[in-house]
Amino acid sequence: MLEIKNVTKKFGELTAVNNLSFTVEKGQVFGIAGPNGAGKSTLYNLITGLYPFEGSIKFEGKEIRGFPSHKIAKLGIARTFQIPQTFPSLTVKKSIAIGNYFGSDAEFDPAYVDEILKFVNLYDKQDEKTGQLKLLDKKMLMIAAALGTRPKILMLDEPMAGSNSKEILSLMELIKRINQDMGITIIIIEHFMKVLTELTSKLLIIETGTEICCGDPNDVTSDSRVIECYLGDGHD
Ligand SMILES: Nc1ncnc2c1ncn2[C@@H]1O[C@H](COP(=O)(O)OP(=O)(O)OP(=O)(O)O)[C@@H](O)[C@H]1O
Ligand SMILES: [Mg+2]
Repeated sequence: MLEIKNVTKKFGELTAVNNLSFTVEKGQVFGIAGPNGAGKSTLYNLITGLYPFEGSIKFEGKEIRGFPSHKIAKLGIARTFQIPQTFPSLTVKKSIAIGNYFGSDAEFDPAYVDEILKFVNLYDKQDEKTGQLKLLDKKMLMIAAALGTRPKILMLDEPMAGSNSKEILSLMELIKRINQDMGITIIIIEHFMKVLTELTSKLLIIETGTEICCGDPNDVTSDSRVIECYLGDGHD
């Protein structure tokens, strides 16, 4: 469904993404992990058309390199950001409606917006201003606004960051439902290995923009190269 081939991104002297290649299959939950500064968020920025790069990114067989972000959104690729971003003066409902109005190729559909509000458990808070929301609700809203665009693939950037264990369970449950009930393919960047091994069927580890290994999450997380680069020497 999404084919990344020999993708490289340099910022001046710094190579943030170094000749990366991988494929995400339809229906999959695909995980990406790696130390801080590994190039994970930059990779999302390349897939969503924020920067020019070398190499090829194909979505459903079609090259999308050079496409503007709004066109990529309309093809069916949505993402969230590492730091929750909302429009603070807008209501919850309007924020999801904006995703549906501007980010989807289909006609604006208020019934679909209601469906999403219920799906993420924000129906009762639909008239609240997003600036007043607690962190977990802000995260749910960011995911909901992305769902508003009717994506085929949803890319989450460290959705668990700053959450307690109960909130992590709620987010994991939501991610599973998005994948299984809505049939949306998911890419998730995450630092919590337990979350990745439970949610994903394939896991890519990168360090300084370069692939360390990619495969079954249980194999990957027990790989000595991953333990050394990601968890640090001497981690049991
Ligand atoms: N717009 C930019 N201009 C210059 N350098 C950048 C830019 N964006 C990212 N970088 C650099 O590219 C490298 C990769 O950054 P990136 O944010 O992709 O890492 P990350 O894997 O998402 O890290 P984290 O786990 O901390 O979120 C870092 O060295 C970062 O400073
Ligand atoms: Mg990042």
